[in-house]
Amino acid sequence: MEDMQYFYELFCGLPRGGPGDNKFTRKAFGYLKNLPAEPLILDIGCGQGMQTLELARISKGKIIAIDNYQPFLDILKKKAIEEGFDKRIITKNQSMLEMDFSNEIFDIIWSEGALYFMGFQNGLKRCNQILKNKGYLVVTEIVLLLTNLPKLLKKFWNEEYPDIKDIKSNITLIQNEGFNLLSHFTLPKSSWIDNYYSPMEKRIYELTKKYYDNKIALQTFKEYKKEIKIYNKYSDYFGYEFFIMQKK
Ligand SMILES: C[S@@+](CC[C@H](N)C(=O)[O-])C[C@H]1O[C@@H](n2cnc3c(N)ncnc32)[C@H](O)[C@@H]1O
Repeated sequence: MEDMQYFYELFCGLPRGGPGDNKFTRKAFGYLKNLPAEPLILDIGCGQGMQTLELARISKGKIIAIDNYQPFLDILKKKAIEEGFDKRIITKNQSMLEMDFSNEIFDIIWSEGALYFMGFQNGLKRCNQILKNKGYLVVTEIVLLLTNLPKLLKKFWNEEYPDIKDIKSNITLIQNEGFNLLSHFTLPKSSWIDNYYSPMEKRIYELTKKYYDNKIALQTFKEYKKEIKIYNKYSDYFGYEFFIMQKK
């Protein structure tokens, strides 16, 4: 689809593919205890790999970073080489829906803003299978922070992600899928703005000039401008939650 071309052109120019911040990747990692000296880590839906690189900096682990869009993996690979992590970060072009790993091999599975692509519950099930006993699963998932949503916002989420839930319902799901929840916290608004919406606005401005007479491109950018507007207006109602879990 042609609109995907502009979506990818937009996203390849961003530092990351969703809200997040190295500070909070480090905070979440800090909850993991008694790790092996060189844990085997899987990063699902790694994108441009901001969190993958941070995981390499704060652990001595080997990281398999999967995504189904090769240009994101190329960006990550280049940065990994620049930082001397090319032996410890292995990129793999594979859909998370078709992961071919053996059962019970990972010490840690990490996924920021991506596990929902396989359905959050299904993602929890699949990660449980390939995690070692007592292995850790750390994810960010979009959640409702308030439930009395204004009509327009309800419509937005019904269209974008009808499976969105509040924190309590996600915790119940996590516990029912064979995990103990070690901790959870909400990403602050700065994690949405600094590394995500602020660079996105700049990139949209540049690309709008480049594609000033291209209807499909402009429509793609308009969708993201709408998303930013929704966030600015309703950010008290939803957010990204870090869930830090351990397989039972
Ligand atoms: C919201 S971005 C998050 C990227 C990164 N984790 C971050 O926080 O910056 C979601 C990522 O999931 C990837 N993705 C989407 N569907 C996928 C699938 N079926 N298998 C693997 N990766 C997928 C996208 O290419 C994108 O890089």
